[in-house]
Amino acid sequence: MPKPLLEPFRIGDLLLPNRFVMAPLTRQRAAKGLVTNEIHAEYYSQRATAGLIISEASQISPKGQGYPNTPGIYSMEQIEGWKLVTDAVHAKGGRIFCQMWHVGRHSHPLLQLDGGLPVGPSAVAETGHVTTPEGKKNPVIPHALTKAEIEQTIEDYRKAARNAIEAGFDGVEIHGANGYLIEQFLNDSSNLRTDEYGGSIANKALFGLQVTAAVVAEIGAERTGIRLSPSGTNFGVRNNNPVETYAYFIEQLNDFNLAYIHLIEPFPHTIEGMDQYLKSPTQHFRPWIKTSLITSAGYNFKTAEAAVVEGFADLVAFGKDFISNPDLVLRYAQNERLNAYNTETFYGGDHRGFTDYPFINEA
Ligand SMILES: Cc1cc2nc3c(=O)[nH]c(=O)nc-3n(C[C@H](O)[C@H](O)[C@H](O)COP(=O)(O)O)c2cc1C
Repeated sequence: MPKPLLEPFRIGDLLLPNRFVMAPLTRQRAAKGLVTNEIHAEYYSQRATAGLIISEASQISPKGQGYPNTPGIYSMEQIEGWKLVTDAVHAKGGRIFCQMWHVGRHSHPLLQLDGGLPVGPSAVAETGHVTTPEGKKNPVIPHALTKAEIEQTIEDYRKAARNAIEAGFDGVEIHGANGYLIEQFLNDSSNLRTDEYGGSIANKALFGLQVTAAVVAEIGAERTGIRLSPSGTNFGVRNNNPVETYAYFIEQLNDFNLAYIHLIEPFPHTIEGMDQYLKSPTQHFRPWIKTSLITSAGYNFKTAEAAVVEGFADLVAFGKDFISNPDLVLRYAQNERLNAYNTETFYGGDHRGFTDYPFINEA
């Protein structure tokens, strides 16, 4: 049987030995100072056979944090912590990008260093809840970023990208998905601005494009990817015209010649009754995207093979299956069964559910 997911593929300057991407997965196990350590090095290096690993989302600044114990990529100590991880992954022959995020309004005073308000494009609270050190809380109305603060935030992205390279990452993925800051700018329900960052599709796209430009100028397009959820509705973001919004955004991104664009497929139930959203953004946007395309969310080996063979995507990211199967690539190669994942150990805790999922030969 041919194994299409074992075909090598080049992105930027990297030759990936297969089409498997480990999706970015928040695990909330960073130590004091929001630093990664030996246990993260072990966890990621166990998964080094992935064509590409994308790290758990890492905040570019203290303001950008939206959950307890998520790692940062803004302090010297954090750079040192990440070096343990990237060295361990490289020692096992792997490749790893750093996912850089700013959660925007999806934060809370209890997560802010100064106890201040989270920030967003506009003073509109999200729906749902925020996880804080004191448990789940209702979202607060964020402070609407001033233009000077927007400039500072873009500068924070630029510095974080430099830090990631310093920490030994092979590149960065800008987190433009899942209801966080860049998507808050792109969407109508979270962006009510009347300046050049709001109103038209081009204006709503400006922040994400300026972030991309800053990161590309700092570390190079071949080391920069971006993740988008064109049919995403996380935390109540709504877009009146997602198809045109993302067509414009992707067209502008094409000019950068990024290493890749990474799209998230929606869970069908999240867009039920919202006919403006695409059921399969990957298939729709494939012809628009002039660089490599990673697709993600809800794939199994069969559907991932179909996506690659039919040409809808170059690479497929697996999330939950990579949590519970460090040797996911080998299991695919050898037609082995997968370990089941335990959702109770996804977020926070210790090595359990983190580094102790068995490899084939240990099962
Ligand atoms: C525990 C967990 C943590 C996640 N953390 C992130 C994250 O940090 N950044 C991100 O872009 N997506 C994150 N996601 C979404 C995944 O990257 C992926 O899109 C999702 O799990 C669907 O893919 P799957 O069906 O292969 O698991 C997370 C998902 C899970 C289950």
